[in-house]
Amino acid sequence: MQQIGVGICGLGTVGSGAYNLISGNSEEISRKTGRVVKITQVGCRRDHPDCDLATTNVTRDIFDVVKNPEVDVVLELIGGTDVALRLVKEAIANRKHVVTANKALIAIHGEELFKLANDAGVCLKFEAAIAGGIPIVKAIREGLAANEVQFLAGVINGTTNYILTEMETAGNRDFTDVLSEAQELGYAEADPTFDVEGIDAAHKLTILSSIAFGVPLKFDSMYAEGISEITVEDIRYAGELGFRIKHLGITARTNRGIELRVHPTLIKKTEMLAQVDGVMNAVLVGSDAAGQTMYYGVGAGAGPTASSVVADVIDVLRSGETDQIPNLGFVAEAIQAIPVLDITNIESAYYLRLKVIDVPGVMAKISTILSEHTISIESLIQKDTGQGEVPIVIVTNRVLERSVNDAIRELEGLKQVEGPLARIRVETFS
Ligand SMILES: NC(=O)c1ccc[n+]([C@@H]2O[C@H](COP(=O)([O-])OP(=O)(O)OC[C@H]3O[C@@H](n4cnc5c(N)ncnc54)[C@H](OP(=O)(O)O)[C@@H]3O)[C@@H](O)[C@H]2O)c1
Repeated sequence: MQQIGVGICGLGTVGSGAYNLISGNSEEISRKTGRVVKITQVGCRRDHPDCDLATTNVTRDIFDVVKNPEVDVVLELIGGTDVALRLVKEAIANRKHVVTANKALIAIHGEELFKLANDAGVCLKFEAAIAGGIPIVKAIREGLAANEVQFLAGVINGTTNYILTEMETAGNRDFTDVLSEAQELGYAEADPTFDVEGIDAAHKLTILSSIAFGVPLKFDSMYAEGISEITVEDIRYAGELGFRIKHLGITARTNRGIELRVHPTLIKKTEMLAQVDGVMNAVLVGSDAAGQTMYYGVGAGAGPTASSVVADVIDVLRSGETDQIPNLGFVAEAIQAIPVLDITNIESAYYLRLKVIDVPGVMAKISTILSEHTISIESLIQKDTGQGEVPIVIVTNRVLERSVNDAIRELEGLKQVEGPLARIRVETFS
């Protein structure tokens, strides 16, 4: 059997997982590809305790890997967008196929790298960049290729989903408390900003949107809002109204443009996405022929992410010299520069929570302001705390975000309203 050389750059969580998966499943992989897949070199600054590197060619300079003539496929598993970009460019220039798990790299530099790879006649694959072990790129690009995709919504960050799930389950633990625990358990990074502020999800959604609609990668136009402002109070009120709060990535094709947004979202408890708990991920895709399909699984970790990385290696072997499947699923000339809607131009329903000083007539004032902005009240909770301050929770109809912003400004200007309002978007998918 012909031997194919794989070079691994970066031996952290994903790199070690890929190393062990290729070594452990070599026979299964050979049965599926008709080739012997051999790790010909590993580039890492230090060894990994889970990997037996005794018989492996190890270099401390990852750039050795992309120059090595015995390496046919380079796995870029170092992360970041600086050294990783140079590394991938050099690998392509040396006519190596590249497999990466790096969502930031693809979301920001994908188009430049796809062009370089196509010009060089090599594959550039990135299944592991989104939702770890869930083969969502393959599902959309290949399985749903016959469809016009209408929307896509996903729980695509395990850290934020874990935090929201724990806050809901415990009922009395705030965001900071649960985040510290998530860090202790290894579910959140020491610097959690990328996850909790929605940047990680925004990178993934950028890629998903492009493969769903055949539009350029538009990370810069993304609206991203994190979960740090979500309170236990909001989770409780949402529950009373029949909703759960999920941190969702949503992209949709509308007749006014593409929606591209990551934010906390109230969804009905009966929605499929509402059942996705803890560190699990799921992506719901709405398409014209297949209808709604949902893809669920473990979104991170050594094994699941390596599963996608090594599947990409197998795909490279199966597709021969050049990739027959366009990187974003659409032929390059058919990519359409449909504008991304500014967040103020999207339409959604809204959850609003206000604290009012309990004076007769305040509810009438609130209703008047809302109706002046064509906003109607779909549900309402008004609780008498007996302490003069009354929390009022409103779920509105679907309106333009701009109208809600204007109404919020006026509501916050009322002398009976205490402090800023809490506002969370409300979506229905089924
Ligand atoms: N972890 C997941 O579950 C997951 C899931 C999906 C996608 N991803 C993506 O996969 C990639 C890798 O993530 P990871 O979690 O495996 O990260 P990680 O555990 O931090 O591993 C990164 C590895 O790359 C090495 N590295 C970084 N820069 C290097 C350089 N200039 N030269 C040599 N080695 C270098 C690091 O070495 P040192 O230890 O010496 O710094 C480390 O061993 C990222 O793009 C990430 O977004 C991760």
